[in-house]
Amino acid sequence: MVEFRKLSVHTGAEILGVNLANPMPHETADEINRIFVDHCVILFRDQKLTQEELVRATANFGEPAEYDLPKEHRTDEEMKQLPEIMMVTNIRKDGKPIGALPDGEMWFHHDMIHNQNPHKATLLYALEVPSWGGNTLFSNLFEAYETLPQDIKNKVEGRMAINAFNYGAQFKGDPNAAPTRRHATHPAIRLHEERQRKAIYMDRLMTQEIVGLPEAESNALLERIFDHIENRELIYEHQWRKADVLMWDNRSSIHARTDFPAGEVRLMWRTTLKGTLAA
Ligand SMILES: [Fe+2]
Repeated sequence: MVEFRKLSVHTGAEILGVNLANPMPHETADEINRIFVDHCVILFRDQKLTQEELVRATANFGEPAEYDLPKEHRTDEEMKQLPEIMMVTNIRKDGKPIGALPDGEMWFHHDMIHNQNPHKATLLYALEVPSWGGNTLFSNLFEAYETLPQDIKNKVEGRMAINAFNYGAQFKGDPNAAPTRRHATHPAIRLHEERQRKAIYMDRLMTQEIVGLPEAESNALLERIFDHIENRELIYEHQWRKADVLMWDNRSSIHARTDFPAGEVRLMWRTTLKGTLAA
């Protein structure tokens, strides 16, 4: 029996007494996966992992994916990581970030929703954390779907949505901005294949439009949906401690990052698990 405790009313569970550096029996992995699917996010504290061990721990729950940034765009430091590792950090060398997503806050999003085959889960392992901020907020989109007002459900049920990389941050308020090329069309509401439960599959950072609705109506509807899914009641806010590993479900949750001091080091290793999109 794997022990866990809930991290908030709707979102997140801490798994107790598991050392991810050790080989994990299938039954244990299955049980942790069930807790994961039910709570959208799981936390393991006080982990001490090499990159190899993090990738091996990731593989307990599915098939690890490789970091998708083309090699020609990677920094020298990124080239030294294992192929499955994305280095999330604000560390700089000669003034340039040595890894990805260096600074400040990030809007709510699903990882990889701009891909045709989005990765089902993300793991993030904290090696260095700042003295404050850089928190990760998670919202449970099963619960958000359940509580979505009926008039919005009627409008979006059965429709597709277009998701473009960083769309919201780049283009909101700029009608002349060209849409980014990295985009994918997915169901606006997706059925979680393991949980057999519906979840909203749109977010403020990536979702550009609901297909088949007039632009103004789509925009207005999306704003209402974003406000609903970012409702504080649904949210677990994680304050990172060094040696934390979080794993979140990109099929049923969104996450965001709060600001943190630019002068302090934040260093994390990220892995993801391959997924398929069940309509
Ligand atoms: Fe993310």
